[in-house]
Amino acid sequence: MTENYEDFISTVSHELRTPLTSIRGFAQTMLNSWDKLDDESKKKFLKIIEDQSNRLINMVENILSVSKLNTGNEKIILRDVSVKSVVTTVVQLIKLQYHDKNYILKINEKAPDILADKDKFQQIMMNLIENASKYSGQNNDITIESGFCPDNNFVSIKVINYGIGIDEKDYNTIFTKFSRIDNPLTRTTQGSGLGLFITKSLVEKMNGKIFVNSEKMDAEKSKITFEIELPILDIEKQARVKCVQ
Ligand SMILES: Nc1ncnc2c1ncn2[C@@H]1O[C@H](COP(=O)(O)OP(=O)(O)O)[C@@H](O)[C@H]1O
Ligand SMILES: [Mg+2]
Repeated sequence: MTENYEDFISTVSHELRTPLTSIRGFAQTMLNSWDKLDDESKKKFLKIIEDQSNRLINMVENILSVSKLNTGNEKIILRDVSVKSVVTTVVQLIKLQYHDKNYILKINEKAPDILADKDKFQQIMMNLIENASKYSGQNNDITIESGFCPDNNFVSIKVINYGIGIDEKDYNTIFTKFSRIDNPLTRTTQGSGLGLFITKSLVEKMNGKIFVNSEKMDAEKSKITFEIELPILDIEKQARVKCVQ
């Protein structure tokens, strides 16, 4: 964990290099061996190039956010945003990369829109659902739940996955810049430790809150829940809706 500029550049460059190397490698293979490759292999290679490009886009988005958050230049434009439409888009994108995961959406249709910045909300959901996918075992379920209760003025969105749990002592640490918890899953996945820092900063800029909870299921598996609460658009609408969980 550091605020050091050079460390930042070195962590980030390292992370960017991995997908770039893969994109270049597969593009070169296709160019050099075009006539020898069957259609299925070509398609597979193009798919990898697409996945890795998507990864790069998300990373660049996160890096830009860190620099804007540092300089106080992150502009938030609040308007009404449908949780369901953003979550559906994000899950469609993430599914392309994590084919083995089973995504379960439990988004209550009756919950009102949230008052949020749509692009930033998408980035938040992207970070949380990507983490849930990255830090889960093979073929696991990932559930995204959203509900609303008029008593508290917030829509709650939960992202739940099963994997190596997070110790209570690390609940705060994971939201700080460059922090990653050392375990077999994080050792075998790429990451810069910036995602949750950005996520928390953006949630709070939109007057929301973020929580984490990790519950042991058995010796190896924990249920990990990241929950965000974001304010809703209008008080009147809120009064007409009953609790929908
Ligand atoms: N869903 C999750 N399950 C288990 N651990 C998680 C989960 N999400 C985040 N973490 C832990 O929090 C750390 C910080 O996450 P993040 O800021 O997104 O960085 P990165 O994903 O780049 O490592 C991760 O390295 C991991 O140790
Ligand atoms: Mg992450």
